[in-house]
Amino acid sequence: MSPIMPVIPVNIPGKTTAYSVFIESGLLSRSSHYFTSYTGHKAAVISDTNVAPLYADILLSELRSAGVEPFLITLPAGETTKCSANLDRLYDFLLDHRITRSDIVIALGGGVIGDLTGYAAATYLRGTRFIQVPTTLLAQVDSSVGGKVAINHPKGKNLLGAFYQPELVIIDTDTLGTLDSRQVGAGLGEVIKYGCILDAPLFERIERCGCRENLVPLYPEIIARCIELKAQVVSEDPLDTGLRMILNFGHTLAHAIENAAGYGTVLHGEAVCIGMVAAAGWGETLGVTPSGTADRIRRLLTALDLPVSLPESLTPDCLFPSMALDKKSLGKDIRVILLDDIGQCHSTRLGAQKLFELMEDNA
Ligand code: NAD
Ligand code: GLY
Repeated sequence: MSPIMPVIPVNIPGKTTAYSVFIESGLLSRSSHYFTSYTGHKAAVISDTNVAPLYADILLSELRSAGVEPFLITLPAGETTKCSANLDRLYDFLLDHRITRSDIVIALGGGVIGDLTGYAAATYLRGTRFIQVPTTLLAQVDSSVGGKVAINHPKGKNLLGAFYQPELVIIDTDTLGTLDSRQVGAGLGEVIKYGCILDAPLFERIERCGCRENLVPLYPEIIARCIELKAQVVSEDPLDTGLRMILNFGHTLAHAIENAAGYGTVLHGEAVCIGMVAAAGWGETLGVTPSGTADRIRRLLTALDLPVSLPESLTPDCLFPSMALDKKSLGKDIRVILLDDIGQCHSTRLGAQKLFELMEDNA
């Protein structure tokens, strides 16, 4: 792994400037200087009921120090918040405070708040300035960077959304200190995804750690590495038309699990863990993934207390309709990411019937 890179630029083709991801312990309480380019403007800060009591006062005070006038809205915590009713609440909030295009909208929270706020920022007044302050491991390693913003629909995950890049991402790794262990695990699922698709040394390093406790001191370095990998992929394919699809390794099944189990029952990162083991198994059955790979991923996830198989209530029959509705489906084909080995992957199309058979074989 490369040394810690506390500032990572994300270059988006067609945009004149890259945006930066700042990663540091204690950064939130030293963040006022990042906001001086917004002096004299307003900031709409969107957070949730778990995060706001812990971190909103710090952020609001840093904004005020920079001469920015902040307004806070606190939404219920959890995946079900990523819905059209809350999007409407955000529009009302932004209108009530007369937020204009030159003001800023700030997401303070995990991926749920980041995705929902980003979608509101992308659509309100056809686009307002947007900053991400991610506070979960999952959001710090993945969702806060790259500009995918969305809400869920009862028929499927993230079906309504946009590509809308933040202009700044501020990651204070200390915020992970208040995150509960199940949520940390969900973030580790996405970290292992990066190892599986792009970075065998990262995967091996986590294998050597053997358990979660040994990983804790590595979080800042791991976050920086995941963001560095994501920035490279997104810079090459910001609109998800090719290379970026590899970031969805394990996600075709994961999104269906989340939808079928009821949003929030199986966490996104947990569903990704189950999806990665399954997708590695599909690759083995198809002869493209070396045999033993699914077991190796399963062993690592198990050592980190992460789920590796479908909850008993979910069968291929109940998951398949939602998989076919996935954004990655192409007519009758479904896009899946398969591993060539740990650290290498490719995207392919599978006929719906073929995928259904693979799911049954590997159930
Ligand atoms: P989340 O936002 O629901 O946060 C998890 C829980 O932790 C919530 O209850 C939250 O209130 C709480 N929390 C957050 N930070 C905390 C802190 N520092 N201390 C204590 N509690 C804290 O979930 P998540 O796992 O961060 O994000 C999941 C969402 O991200 C899913 O909707 C998924 O689809 C989305 N996602 C998006 C992308 C993308 O590229 N946009 C990528 C991956 C996942
Ligand atoms: N998390 C998948 C992506 O950003 O493309």
